[in-house]
Amino acid sequence: MRDATPGAIYLADYRAPDFLINRTELHFHLGEEETIVTSRLHLLRSCEVDGTPPLVLNGQDMELLQVSIDNEPLAPEAFEVNDDTLVIADVPEQCVLSCRTRIRPQDNTSLEGLYRSHSMYCTQCEAEGFRKITYYLDRPDVMSVFTVTIEADPDQFPVLLSNGNLFASTTLDNGLQQVTWHDPFPKPSYLFALVAGDLEHVEDTFTTAGGREVTLRIYVEPKDLGKCAHAMDSLKRSMRWDEEVFGREYDLDIFNVVAVDDFNMGAMENKSLNIFNTSCVLCDPDITTDQGYQRVESIVAHEYFHNWSGNRVTCRDWFQLSLKEGFTVFRDAEFSADMGSRTVKRVEDVSLLRTAQFTEDAGPMAHPVRPDSYIEINNFYTATVYEKGAEVVRMIHTLLGPERFRSGSDLYFQRHDGQAVTCEDFLCAMEDASGVDLTQFRRWYAQAGTPQLRVRDRYDADARTYTLEFSQSCPPTPGQPQKQPVVIPCAMGLLGDAGNLPLRLRGEPVDAETADNTHRVLIIDQPSQEFVFENVAERPVPSLLRGFSAPVRLDYPYSREALCQLMSRDDDGFVRWDSAQTLAVQVISEVQEQLATGQAASVDDMLLAACAQLLEDATLDPAMVAEMLTLPSENYLAELAGEGAADVEAIHAARRAVQQAIGRELAGPLLARYRELEVTGDYAPSGEQIAARSLRNLCLGYLAGADAQHLALAAGQFAAADNLTDRLAALRVLACHGSEADWQQPLSRFYSDWQHEALAVNHWLTTQAMMPDAGVIARVRELMQHPAFDLRNPNKVRSLVGGFAGHNPLNFHRADGEGYRLLREAVAELNGINPQIAARLLAPLTRWRYYRGRADLMRAELEKLAGMEDLSPDVYEVVTKSLQ
Ligand code: ARG
Ligand code: ZN
Repeated sequence: MRDATPGAIYLADYRAPDFLINRTELHFHLGEEETIVTSRLHLLRSCEVDGTPPLVLNGQDMELLQVSIDNEPLAPEAFEVNDDTLVIADVPEQCVLSCRTRIRPQDNTSLEGLYRSHSMYCTQCEAEGFRKITYYLDRPDVMSVFTVTIEADPDQFPVLLSNGNLFASTTLDNGLQQVTWHDPFPKPSYLFALVAGDLEHVEDTFTTAGGREVTLRIYVEPKDLGKCAHAMDSLKRSMRWDEEVFGREYDLDIFNVVAVDDFNMGAMENKSLNIFNTSCVLCDPDITTDQGYQRVESIVAHEYFHNWSGNRVTCRDWFQLSLKEGFTVFRDAEFSADMGSRTVKRVEDVSLLRTAQFTEDAGPMAHPVRPDSYIEINNFYTATVYEKGAEVVRMIHTLLGPERFRSGSDLYFQRHDGQAVTCEDFLCAMEDASGVDLTQFRRWYAQAGTPQLRVRDRYDADARTYTLEFSQSCPPTPGQPQKQPVVIPCAMGLLGDAGNLPLRLRGEPVDAETADNTHRVLIIDQPSQEFVFENVAERPVPSLLRGFSAPVRLDYPYSREALCQLMSRDDDGFVRWDSAQTLAVQVISEVQEQLATGQAASVDDMLLAACAQLLEDATLDPAMVAEMLTLPSENYLAELAGEGAADVEAIHAARRAVQQAIGRELAGPLLARYRELEVTGDYAPSGEQIAARSLRNLCLGYLAGADAQHLALAAGQFAAADNLTDRLAALRVLACHGSEADWQQPLSRFYSDWQHEALAVNHWLTTQAMMPDAGVIARVRELMQHPAFDLRNPNKVRSLVGGFAGHNPLNFHRADGEGYRLLREAVAELNGINPQIAARLLAPLTRWRYYRGRADLMRAELEKLAGMEDLSPDVYEVVTKSLQ
C-alpha cells in the first residue's frame, strides 16, 4: 500500500520530538544581495528518549556557512547537510546550537519562508516555511521563546517588525538600524514572522475587559493608508466579541497587522504580527465590493481568534490542522452571524460548502477532517479541513447546547494553554465539561465523504401519527471503501396548514405538548431508524435539517407544492432558502430534459409565482430575497448530476432558459424593485445598503439577461456608480449578456480609471475570465501577457486563471479541450515558480470523472503534467491522486 504514494507522511507514524528548543535567538542581516541568518538554539534532549539520537534539523534552499555547538565551530565531518535536513550525530544533552546561513529572499518566488513583495520583506511560515529561513525543528510541537534581532538599511527599511514586544532599537556604527523583538509566549516556528519595509501605519487602541490597553496597528504601503479603517473597526469588534462570547482576552500590549500584495493565502495569524493578503485587509468603496467588506471583517476576526484557538493552544502535528482551523472558522462564522444577518451568513456558508467541499469530498483528493496521510501538507488547507471541520464543531455546539459548549471551550483553553494538542484533546474537553459522550461522533474526524441522509415518511390519519424513517449511508472514498454510521443531528419541524405543528414523539408525556415545542433536534446515529410523532392532526410537510444542522446530503422526495409551502411559510430561514434552491434544481433539470428531447423550454409557473411572491413581499429582508432568487450555480448543478453525467452545455442552456423566463415573465416586478432599491446618499458597507444593492443588482441581471433593451440600465448604472459593487455588477451584466459593442468601451474605461489599484484590476481580470462568449480563451491568453498580469502574484493568477477554470464552466469545458490546455500550461509554468498556487489551480481538472464526454481530454492534460520533470511535491500529489 505505502509504495503507491512515495514520500507520504502518516499520522500513525507520529513520534514526539527527541529534542526541545527552550529559547530561540535569531539574528537577521537583511542585505541587498543576500540575507544572513544566525540562530542560537537552546537545545535540550527530551527526557523521554533513550540513548543519544542524532539531531535532525529541517532546512531547505539555503547555504550553511557555519554550525557550532556551545560556541565551538563543528568540523565538516561532525555534521551532514542533505537536501532538506542537517544531521548532527553527536549532540550533548543540553547545549546552544548556532547556525549561520545565507538565503536570497528576493529570488524566493514560492512565497514561503522569507521573501520579497514589492519593496518589503516578509515571511510566511505555516506550515513548513520556517525551514527555508534557518535550520530548525520545524514542527508545531516544538515550542520556543523567540528573541529576534533585525539589521537593515534604515532608508530602505525604516520599519522592522517581528513577534511580541519591541525590546531595543539602535543605529549601528555602520549606519544600519538594529531592532530586537521579544515574544514571551512560547510558540512553534510556524507562528514566527518578520517584516521589513518602508511602511506607514494607522493606530488605535483597545482596552481589554481586564483593563489592558492594547496598541493596534495596521501597516501598509503609504498609498494604502486611507484603506485601513474597516479592518481596524473589525479588529476592535472581534476583540470585544471574543471576550463576550468565548471569554478570551488579548494577552500582549501590541497587536500588529501588515498588508502584503504577494501572498499565497488570505492571511496568517503569526503571534501579535498578523500578515494579510492586501485583498483581505484593505477596503475602499472603489476597490472593494460589499462582499469584500464582509470578507475583510470575517478574516480579520478569524486571524484574531487564532490568538487563542491556534496560538495559545496549538496543533501537535499537521494532521490536527482542523483543531485550530475548524474551530476558528466556526468562531468567525458565529461572529459574522452576530454582526449581520445570521440566516444570510448561514446560507452563504452552506452554499460554499456544497460547491467547494462536497465536490472535494466526492473527488480523488477526498480526505477526512483529520487526514491520515499527506505528501505535501500545503495541499491540505482545504474546504474539508476548514469548512467541514467548522461544521463538525457546529454539530458539537448543537449536541451540547450553547452553555455546555462554552464550558467545554473554557475547559479546553484552560487545560491546554501553552500546549500543542490534538483533535482528540478537544473532544475530551467537550465531553468532560458536558457529560455528553462523543465516542461515535468521533467518526466525523476519521471518515471522509459526505453522508447521505435518506428520509421517507408516512401519515396515518386514523391513528393521527406521522412517522419519519431515516437511513444514512456514505459513499466510498480513496482508502475508505466502507463507512460506519455517524451521529447526525437533524433539526426539524412539521409544517401544517396553519403553521408549525406541536411535536410529541411516541412515548413522551402528553403534557409536554406546549405551544413552543415546534422545533427539535433528532439524533440519527443508526444505519436506519424511525421516529413516530403522535397527535398529528393533518399530513404535514417536514421541515428537515433546519439551519443545515449537519453537513449531509438530504434525500426526501419533496413535491413542488411542498417546497413552495416551506419557501413561504417555514419558521427556519435556512429551510426557506434551501427549498427555493431545491425547487430551482427541479425546474432546471426539467427544462434540461425538455431541451434534450427537442421541446421548447417551459418553466414551471409554480417557480415563477414563488419568485413573484418573493419580489413583491416588502416585509422580507432584501438580502434574503436575493439569496432565494439566486439560481444554483452551473458547478453545483454539474456536481448534482453525478459522475459521468454532467453535460456542461445542456446545464448552461437549461439554467439560462430558466433565468430568461424569470427575467421576461417578471420584468414588471423586477424593474419596480430595481428602481425602488436604489441607494441614495453616501456608500456605506452597512447591512441595509448591502442588502439593497444585492437584490437590486440581481434584478438587473435578470432583466438584462432576458431583454437586451435593459442593457441600457446596466450601461447607465456603470457610468453613474460611485462604488465598486454597483460598477462591477453593471460591468458583469454587460460582459455576460451584451455584445462586444456593449462591453468593449466599459471594460477599457474600467481599466483606465482603476489601473493604479491592483485590487480593482483583479476584479477586471475575473470579469473577463468569466465571459460566456467563445472568444474568452484567446482573451485570457492575451491578458496573461498584459502588463496588469503577473504569474508570480497569486491574486492575479487566482483572478484570471482561477476565475476562468473555476467559474466559466462553459468555456473551460469546451469540446476542443482548449480550456484544459490553457490551465495545464499555466500550472506547468507555475510549478517552477509557486508550487502551492500551481497545485491549487489544478482543482477543476481533478473533477474529470463528472463530465460526460470530457474525461479523456481532462485526463490527458493531467498525464502531461504527471510526465513533467521537476514536478513539485504539491503538483505531484494532486496529479497522481487524481489519476488513480
Ligand atoms: N493559518 C492561516 C489561516 O487559516 C492559513 C495559512 C495557510 N498557509 C499555507 N501555506 N497553507 O488563516
Ligand atoms: Zn485559520
